[in-house]
Amino acid sequence: MSNHLLKGKRGIIFGALNNQSIAWKVAQRAHEEGATFVLTNAPIAMRMGEINELAAETGSQVIAADATNIADLENLVTKAQEILGGKIDFVLHSIGMSPNVRKGKHYTENDYNYYGQTMDVSAMSLHKTLATLYKHDAMNEWGSVVALSYIAAQRIFPDYNDMADAKSLLESIARSFGYHYGIKKKVRINTISQSPTVTTAGQGIKGFTEFINFSEQMSPLGNASAIACADYCISMFSDLTKYVTMQNLFHDGGFSNTGVTQQVIERFGDQ
Ligand SMILES: NC(=O)c1ccc[n+]([C@@H]2O[C@H](COP(=O)([O-])OP(=O)(O)OC[C@H]3O[C@@H](n4cnc5c(N)ncnc54)[C@H](O)[C@@H]3O)[C@@H](O)[C@H]2O)c1
Repeated sequence: MSNHLLKGKRGIIFGALNNQSIAWKVAQRAHEEGATFVLTNAPIAMRMGEINELAAETGSQVIAADATNIADLENLVTKAQEILGGKIDFVLHSIGMSPNVRKGKHYTENDYNYYGQTMDVSAMSLHKTLATLYKHDAMNEWGSVVALSYIAAQRIFPDYNDMADAKSLLESIARSFGYHYGIKKKVRINTISQSPTVTTAGQGIKGFTEFINFSEQMSPLGNASAIACADYCISMFSDLTKYVTMQNLFHDGGFSNTGVTQQVIERFGDQ
């Protein structure tokens, strides 16, 4: 259903890998709501080719960019404005990757080269993207940037490993850059802290199935789906949320404010 919430708006959407990706659903919803945008992902992810299906479906062009590489980001920001015919109104940062998680390292024995890569890809890439947009004055006033986060930034979820540290940094960058970009150009920057969601990145976390079930039972509304997350992103890109900035917004069915639910407590009876 379209409410034309993003009519006339131009965007850049990072991170649509396949049709499970949260960014994929955001792109579909943004298209429905009347936006035009470019899709981008790391060159290595492009080789899988699925992003071209999304590009055809949404009438978008694809520009490869490693979000840790400033030259790639400069090319992306310049080309996106040429293709879309003006400055950018919204950006989705939907990027996460930890070599320590991938290689099954324990948090107490993490490899520091990998740790640096986790920070660079999953957090510093937001700073690099924002710095590139800022330097090129590529955003329209009241533009909106959303990055996706997870509650492991505030609380320990052991198998999330160094991604927890990356999400803390990501949320801090949104606050700090949100201050500077707000003053300069009224651009707002927020993170959305999403429920665990079945995607390629999500499934990389050890014990993910058990964890997603636990989270479902610990959330009064149940886990928020990728499609619901896309709806929330659309509202954050729209003019209906103009004064929301520098926030970490929980989109988690109530999980973050729940101590325990009856469903979970009943599992601990008669032991
Ligand atoms: N799935 C979950 O349970 C969950 C929960 C909360 C937050 N998130 C966050 O949502 C975001 C999107 O993840 P997803 O779950 O849709 O998984 P996904 O695997 O579909 O998306 C992750 C994306 O990051 C991209 N990426 C990795 N390295 C990159 C680089 N160097 N440059 C550019 N792009 C790069 C990948 O190609 C991929 O498209 C991530 O930030 C993730 O941490 C996911």
